[in-house]
Amino acid sequence: MQIEAVLEFAVATAQAAGEVLLDKFEGALQVSTKSADGDLVTDADRAAEAVILGRIRAVYPDHGILAEESGRVGATAAALQWIVDPLDGTTNFAHRLPHFCVSIALVDEEGPLVGVVHDPIRGETFSASRGGGAFRDSARARARGGPVRLAVTQVASLREALVATGFPYIRVGDNLAEVVRLVPQIRCLRRAGSAALDLAYVAAGRLDGYWEARLAPWDIAAGALLVREAGGLVTRMHGEAWSVEHADVTAGGRSLHPQLVSELQAVRA
Ligand code: IPD
Ligand code: CA
Ligand code: CA
Repeated sequence: MQIEAVLEFAVATAQAAGEVLLDKFEGALQVSTKSADGDLVTDADRAAEAVILGRIRAVYPDHGILAEESGRVGATAAALQWIVDPLDGTTNFAHRLPHFCVSIALVDEEGPLVGVVHDPIRGETFSASRGGGAFRDSARARARGGPVRLAVTQVASLREALVATGFPYIRVGDNLAEVVRLVPQIRCLRRAGSAALDLAYVAAGRLDGYWEARLAPWDIAAGALLVREAGGLVTRMHGEAWSVEHADVTAGGRSLHPQLVSELQAVRA
């Protein structure tokens, strides 16, 4: 398997799903709830996922798929599994707030191998392959010479850090103690509503750090690879090694990450 070809396929697939989302964003939407009142799904999530799954099945019929709306499909025991969030930021989308993305990763037994986070509103595609670096592509980037290599920030003090987090749909209050501890110490906090874009922005140096718990593999897998390939650190929320099945994460630059983890550990203690 040629990794460049897989990456190209993943980028084209995320962009095709992004076109579906853009179309739906302008029109009538069917919104319903899943596990909780705040856990929304729309016909756009399902339509984008259908496009992604159709393309994967056609080109990589031997691979497995874990997709947010369809669960595990295809070759469930295969060593290569696609992890798909067709619309990360559904709450934003349902409220017509233009901040959401498509997140697609291919993972093997060592973790994410290829990761793509595509923001159709801004026309930005963040992509990475393991060992191959992370990049941001857009029409403007291409006009200026091509995709931009991503690098996390070198910010070394919490005081100078712009940090993002999120709140779970169930047990929304779970993250409040962490927020109360960190907000007075950092420059500012963001809760933008798309975990995959939060991670892509850490990779791109737009955010210095990010933590969140109670996520799912499809929220984290692609973004984690972006951060690692951009020179950053990705662990579980309290510093343990992160792997695809873990639902909590802390990500950041090499100086900031340990400080974030230590503050989050202090809350747990
Ligand atoms: C959600 C977003 C949000 C995070 C939630 C996720 P969805 O994904 O990533 O930022 O805080 O926990 O579930 O439901 O929009 O795909
Ligand atoms: Ca998600
Ligand atoms: Ca989703």
